[in-house]
Amino acid sequence: MEALKASSFPSFHRQLNSRYTFQKHKFHHIPSSWRIRLPCQKSDFKNFTAISTEEAIESEKSEKKFEWYEQWYPVWPVCDLDKRRPHAKKVIGIDLVVWWDRNENAWKVFEDSCPHRMAPLSEGRIDQWGRLQCVYHGWCFGGAGDCKFILETALPRVHTSSKACVAVFPSCLQNGILWFWPNSDPQFKNINLTKKPHYIPELDYLSYSTMMISREIGYGYEILIENLMDPAHIPYAHYGMVKTGELPERS
Ligand code: FES
Repeated sequence: MEALKASSFPSFHRQLNSRYTFQKHKFHHIPSSWRIRLPCQKSDFKNFTAISTEEAIESEKSEKKFEWYEQWYPVWPVCDLDKRRPHAKKVIGIDLVVWWDRNENAWKVFEDSCPHRMAPLSEGRIDQWGRLQCVYHGWCFGGAGDCKFILETALPRVHTSSKACVAVFPSCLQNGILWFWPNSDPQFKNINLTKKPHYIPELDYLSYSTMMISREIGYGYEILIENLMDPAHIPYAHYGMVKTGELPERS
């Protein structure tokens, strides 16, 4: 619900140093037909409406705006990740590469774009030293996003330039899910120490059986939520795909 109350949805642009920053853009307002209508007392209708509107505006003003790029987002169930290769995923409009850094013993989430010629790093490989290697000209990156190796340069230490670094997004594991924070600004580097992803205790109960599915869908979360809250479509739209019991006889 917090998200639905948001008044703006930001987008991002890439800076020279490969860090993301975000700008505010117009948000699609919730259609008036979706808004909840409050019950009103007949005798005091006008008065009630006026006060409610003012109160609503005041409370809206005092509410903290929802920051889309200062939240944790699930990226992948860890059970589906292969440590031997990088993985591509787009989350909240950002192309990501997820890879296992065996030197730090941790999953890493980078921007899926090589700082050299912007080849997708997810098309690359993990080299024999456990670095993420770009498939195009072989630049290699460590877990901090720093470039460790450039083959074709005669200049010493050119690979240490900040322009040769990849944007690294904060990430952490919780409930068997890899989460990422979609802002690589250094101020968020240790954000997981102060703010954790939403915890779902049931996923850790041994008495519960769980199943995780990761799937890319070509529409927004509003449509998906509406669809999940509409079980009446299941016997028809998913006919033969899920066990739904018998369809009603013809009347
Ligand atoms: S594009 Fe990645 S090394 Fe050239």
